[in-house]
Amino acid sequence: MKQIQYILASLFIILGAFEGYSQEWTVPENEAAVVSPLPFNNATVREGKTVYEKNCKSCHGEPGKNNAIVLVPPPPDMASEKMQANTDGGMFYKVTNGRGAMPTFKPTLSETQIWQVINFIRKFDPRNAGKLIETALLKGKLSAAIDKDSTAIDIVAEVQNSPGIYSRLTNTTVFVQVKKAFGFLDIGKALTNADGKARFEIPKGLAGNVDGKADFVVTLGDDFEKTTAEVPGIKVAAPLGENPLASRSVLWSTNDRTQNWLLFSYFFVTGLVWLTIIYIVLQISKIPKAGK
Ligand code: HEC
Repeated sequence: MKQIQYILASLFIILGAFEGYSQEWTVPENEAAVVSPLPFNNATVREGKTVYEKNCKSCHGEPGKNNAIVLVPPPPDMASEKMQANTDGGMFYKVTNGRGAMPTFKPTLSETQIWQVINFIRKFDPRNAGKLIETALLKGKLSAAIDKDSTAIDIVAEVQNSPGIYSRLTNTTVFVQVKKAFGFLDIGKALTNADGKARFEIPKGLAGNVDGKADFVVTLGDDFEKTTAEVPGIKVAAPLGENPLASRSVLWSTNDRTQNWLLFSYFFVTGLVWLTIIYIVLQISKIPKAGK
């Protein structure tokens, strides 16, 4: 009987904990009534997308794919009814203040950025279907080459006007990245002039790969279909040489670099410990005999 009571009591405690977690997240009425100061259009949604990918996607996942990370309570999918049931003001309040595993973004995002990301989330509200006019992406063309002193990248950007016919792309931002083992690292941007040309000065002290080289990738912005130009293998720094952790003098880097005296002391000490344990066990096993 007593056992059943215990089981029931612990069940209630566990259920109670879950109940507490899944509690409605209520927003003060005056906060929920706040209306977004931003217009709902392609520009604000696109800016919101950038904010989303940097700050929210890691937990909430790709909107509409239900691939949020596992947390209690779970971060709702941005396209879900639960999320879209929030008013703009309600979302602003929740993103600003946070709760539990949902961080407060007050210190990290400006109010404008929060409203932008809310516009991006609203893109997935079925009530907004058809409200954003998708403009077709432009088709670009890029060429990039290192200048003769290897201090800058000369870029030429073009845009397609009709199939096969390109004109120089003026006053447009081009982005420069460096290829790294883990992906692409943004290192800066440049603006094209009236001839569609831009010059990007390679930052001094840029870290290269092991061989001291860096591979650059030039891209156009979001208004364009994916367009890139690569500038491979430019020497920017001295080669790193041997990985310092693998050098001869480092004892612990790999097993076969371990020094003999170290191996010997290791086996000596562990051997001693085992001998002591065996001795103690033998002594203990003698106790019943001595008792008789
Ligand atoms: C560290 C993980 C994490 C990050 C990063 C994160 N969230 Fe959340 N978010 C959560 C969790 C967990 C919840 C559920 C919190 C709860 O209900 O107590 C949540 C809930 C929310 C809610 C309330 C949903 C509801 O139930 O009404 C909104 C709105 C929201 N997040 C927006 C965002 C936005 C916008 C960003 C990026 C600026 C963001 N979140 C970043 C984990 C995260």
